[in-house]
Amino acid sequence: MKDLSDKYLRPLQDLRISIMDKCNFRCSYCMPADVFGEDYVFMREEELLSFDEIERLAKHFTSLGVKKIRLTGGEPLLRKDVPHLIKRLASIKGIEDIGLTTNGVYLVKQAKALKEAGLIRVNVSLDALDTAIFQKMNGRNVTSAVVLKGINAALSAGLEVKINMVVRKNVNDGEVVKLASYCKEKNITLRFIEFMDVGQTNGWDFSQVITKRELLEKVSELGPLEEVEKDYLGEVATRYRYKGTDTEIGIISSVSDTFCGNCTRARISADGKVYTCLFAEDGFDLRALIRSGASDAQIKQKITQIWSNRTDKYSEERTEETVKNRRKIEMSYIGG
Ligand code: GTP
Ligand code: 5AD
Ligand code: SF4
Ligand code: SF4
Repeated sequence: MKDLSDKYLRPLQDLRISIMDKCNFRCSYCMPADVFGEDYVFMREEELLSFDEIERLAKHFTSLGVKKIRLTGGEPLLRKDVPHLIKRLASIKGIEDIGLTTNGVYLVKQAKALKEAGLIRVNVSLDALDTAIFQKMNGRNVTSAVVLKGINAALSAGLEVKINMVVRKNVNDGEVVKLASYCKEKNITLRFIEFMDVGQTNGWDFSQVITKRELLEKVSELGPLEEVEKDYLGEVATRYRYKGTDTEIGIISSVSDTFCGNCTRARISADGKVYTCLFAEDGFDLRALIRSGASDAQIKQKITQIWSNRTDKYSEERTEETVKNRRKIEMSYIGG
């Protein structure tokens, strides 16, 4: 069968699956503690897609072109038995790459089992080395030492590791060069992420964004950089290498230099809704379709219909009006 494309001829290639809406962090830019407090109502166990349901959907998506799966959250490692799920996903014919995006805390315990199950890569969020600044970002008094231990455990287990750093002006921008220097020394790829207006709760405005251009200027202090070819169509980071080395950095510039033209991703929330953009207002409830007893053919047809009608390109269309008035879903719900 011919692979599926959307209205702008973008193929369906990547699937991000959120497997848990809860998180043990309260990052200010994602789940601010004053909004996601003690009384916040998270999904009940039975609301989450089961592993059977996830596997079934993943098979359908793969048959329509998906080659790459990334598990996200919230914090995906708060879900029980993730290695078991990875094993099942890794054995789907056509899946070439499985990654996981995590805050890193549980990697010390789980990295080895995840690798053995077939996980290839982890992207670990770390926004500062300095304790006070990191704690201000993560909202939970976690120190960078804990996350660095997780990163080391992942590397020792043989997982490929990248670090994600969200940069927020006047909060952690002073850590950009420090973290870049640390990663350069250890030959770990560090990716800077422009603070984005995801969700309704993180108080985003453009004045808090450190742009790709500013980031490049800062990091050039450590040595001249040269741009590197993208790894695959739809890669979100622009990659650079320190000249004369094989150490890379990346910049994910969804605000200042958008990349919707090559966006090949579908996303499934932990409760089974499919979204065709990170900034979507609504998704289609695949869980309801599955639980109503729909056949494989019906589910596949629905996904085909959704993707072939897709017209999303939010980052290209962002205006003051959309930032304020669009009712966007939360990052912890959709998994980034
Ligand atoms: P790789 O496969 O390693 O390239 O992973 P990734 O960068 O696609 O995934 P990750 O979960 O590490 O996400 C890094 C950052 O990119 C997060 O802030 C995501 O929200 C953001 N991101 C990922 N995909 C998209 C996208 O399609 N659009 C936008 N605007 N941001 C995205
Ligand atoms: N802007 C940019 N990146 C964000 N992330 C979470 N919220 C935001 C935001 N508002 C990042 C996390 C993680 C990835 C999945 O998304 O730090 O690395
Ligand atoms: Fe948790 Fe990641 Fe959101 Fe931070 S960014 S609160 S670690 S899901
Ligand atoms: Fe894709 Fe939406 Fe991100 Fe654009 S804003 S790259 S369409 S997820």
